[in-house]
Amino acid sequence: MLKIAIIGAGRIGAVHAKTVAEHPDAQLILVSDPFGDNAADVAACYGARSTKDVAAVFAADDVDAVIIGSPTPTHVDHIVCAVQSGKAVLCEKPVDLSMKRVDECLAAIAGKEDSVMIGFNRRFDPTFAEIRARVAHGEIGPLEQLTIISRDPAAPPVAYLADSGGIFRDMTIHDFDTARYFLGEIVEVSATGQTLDPAFRGSGDFDAAVVTLTAASGAVATIINSRHCASGYDQRLEAFGPLGMLEAVNQLATSVRYSGRKQSSADGPYLDFFLQRYAEAYRLELGHFIESVTHGTAPSPSILDGRAALVLSDAATRSARTGERVAVGSPSPRVAVPVR
Ligand SMILES: NC(=O)c1ccc[n+]([C@@H]2O[C@H](COP(=O)([O-])OP(=O)(O)OC[C@H]3O[C@@H](n4cnc5c(N)ncnc54)[C@H](O)[C@@H]3O)[C@@H](O)[C@H]2O)c1
Repeated sequence: MLKIAIIGAGRIGAVHAKTVAEHPDAQLILVSDPFGDNAADVAACYGARSTKDVAAVFAADDVDAVIIGSPTPTHVDHIVCAVQSGKAVLCEKPVDLSMKRVDECLAAIAGKEDSVMIGFNRRFDPTFAEIRARVAHGEIGPLEQLTIISRDPAAPPVAYLADSGGIFRDMTIHDFDTARYFLGEIVEVSATGQTLDPAFRGSGDFDAAVVTLTAASGAVATIINSRHCASGYDQRLEAFGPLGMLEAVNQLATSVRYSGRKQSSADGPYLDFFLQRYAEAYRLELGHFIESVTHGTAPSPSILDGRAALVLSDAATRSARTGERVAVGSPSPRVAVPVR
């Protein structure tokens, strides 16, 4: 039984608390959040202790592992304190918005990198994982083109956006990791940012983007993002090769279809947002984390995968601002194996 504490009891912290409480091999011990009643409210749902003092998490003898769901600028400090106090870490993406801070973090935990896993939950989505496995088995031949469509139903609050690091570091970073997971080493990034939503004007950020990634294998990934989507949380992936293609379509709450006088084959809406759409992925992600801590094996995605995705985010930010195609070097020694 892995005894887990959560730092940050906001949107994603609450998702992790529920997932931990429901997992047979985990116990939610402590929830920490310095603001309001956030920690107490989440802890009370699952019979855990709560504290406003984050340092109490690192000092707690009965905590084996820490899930970090606090705002991005706090991740590095929390990772370093947790690792130095002997706790395993599952930290939300991104590791940080600054490559310098990520490298300082890596220096501070040198030799213990394998005690940190990064929450790129989409690797654990059963449909994406099935496509990757079927590509690896040669069903469509060598992967030539990967298309990832990821659109949120609506933009997050302005306060969240101000500290988000921009669309490529906050949102596209999931898709950069997915692209690396399928294609391995990426060598070139080209990005176009769009400001379509008036609320984003003057923010210096984009609310939509299209990114092209070229892999060392010659395969190309296209990522399409938007902060808004009238039809809901739009999460699709297509792998294309010479022998066919594999597609993950949007998931619905029900497979029952309605047909009537004015409409035929009408489905219900897409699963609402990340909490619902990726619920199974968060559960499988936690299962992998527990297994790696229990067996002392390296978790994947690692903190080096977190760094590699930030390399692509920084390159896309530069490309969208300058119009350049940006060459990127080998991002990390533990780059995902390309699917052939
Ligand atoms: N993997 C995913 O699907 C996913 C989804 C959403 C968010 N995230 C990531 O999770 C992180 C949190 O995002 P969110 O949407 O839950 O934000 P949020 O604002 O809803 O929650 C953050 C929580 O952290 C608390 N907090 C603030 N400062 C803190 C500190 N110093 N120590 C501890 N807690 C502190 C806040 O009070 C709040 O309760 C971000 O890094 C974000 O990128 C990941």
